[in-house]
Amino acid sequence: MSAATAPAPPRDYRAEFPIFRRSVYLNSCSLGALSTRSRVRVNQFLDLWEERGAAAWYDVWWEALASLRERYGRLIGAPPGTIALHPNISTALTSVAESLDYRLRPRVVVTSLEFPTVPYQWLAKAGQVEVVVVESPDGVSVPLEAIERAVDGRTALVATSHVFFTSGAIQDIRAVAEIAHRNGALVLVDGYQAAGQIPVDVVASDVDFYCAGGLKWLLGGSGVAFLYARADLLGTLAPRATGWFAHREQFRFDPHSLSLHADARRLEAGTPAMLPVYAQLGGLDVVDELGPAEIRRRTMPLVEDLIDQAQWAGLRTKIAAREDERSAIVMLACDDPGGAVRRLAEASIIADARPGHVRLSPYFYNVADDHRAAIERLTRD
Ligand SMILES: Cc1ncc(COP(=O)(O)O)c(C=O)c1O
Repeated sequence: MSAATAPAPPRDYRAEFPIFRRSVYLNSCSLGALSTRSRVRVNQFLDLWEERGAAAWYDVWWEALASLRERYGRLIGAPPGTIALHPNISTALTSVAESLDYRLRPRVVVTSLEFPTVPYQWLAKAGQVEVVVVESPDGVSVPLEAIERAVDGRTALVATSHVFFTSGAIQDIRAVAEIAHRNGALVLVDGYQAAGQIPVDVVASDVDFYCAGGLKWLLGGSGVAFLYARADLLGTLAPRATGWFAHREQFRFDPHSLSLHADARRLEAGTPAMLPVYAQLGGLDVVDELGPAEIRRRTMPLVEDLIDQAQWAGLRTKIAAREDERSAIVMLACDDPGGAVRRLAEASIIADARPGHVRLSPYFYNVADDHRAAIERLTRD
């Protein structure tokens, strides 16, 4: 084969994440590693700010926002016009929580495995909303039958995770949507621990709302998130918490009337933080290049290797029983997880502590030697 036709060498993604020069990074489920591409994009943003000031809003920054909405949408199979940008999941949830009518349906069903900011949105509405918590029997997942028993004609919304942050188990969100819809309720999925590391198709899953963002598997850092809302619901959503970015003619600066965008921007609020937007566009350059299916194909052998190594070393794992329900979060039982994570950090191994567990989260840029180093350090004393 001539040099001209030789295939390009496979890309060395690990080399694009400088943290690996200094550390063993096993904490992507808290914060995805910084890529050189995000740094380049952030520098672009700073250059624009320095050189053009507010004039950058007129074209490039506005286009960056539109591009981010479009790319988030493509990633989760969402039709155009169904993505709203938010600074974090909590504000995305607020725009949903403040759109619903609880008078005839005063209940919101969650599970005991949600990231707490999900139930907090509705616990804050005590007196108006009753939060029904479906308990997990094993701390790993929640039986569909238990969700089925909790949802009824008084349920406004089922709000639950795609991947549980506390076990890495993947939930069958299509089945949850089916239960919710059969009872006339809506379903919101917190996909923060899913989008990027597993393929997501919001249309095939038939969910009404889906949120995720930059912090973890989408490699965008903090300060940028998104909310998908089903196209045919949009006209019914008019959040009681809003801002001028939701106004369809925001530059008329009309203080007398609020006329919302027809598309999902009606669920946005104030001026977005542009630096995180640029960091996220860089992270998405990597995620989109591989695609979530390829990312999962590369990551899952690492996950299974980590589980094998941990069990072989005598550590107890809290993971889904079936391999196809597992994702890139591996919980290792530990009496003193805070101390263990500190000792790992002293050896430049970055992990995370959760009650009773050390949490490790390999991603496509890890290698099996990363796990070996972590397990060896965890079991040394
Ligand atoms: C599943 C899940 N949802 C939400 C969050 C965070 O929510 P917010 O963006 O409001 O801080 C996290 C972790 O940070 C999470 O793991």
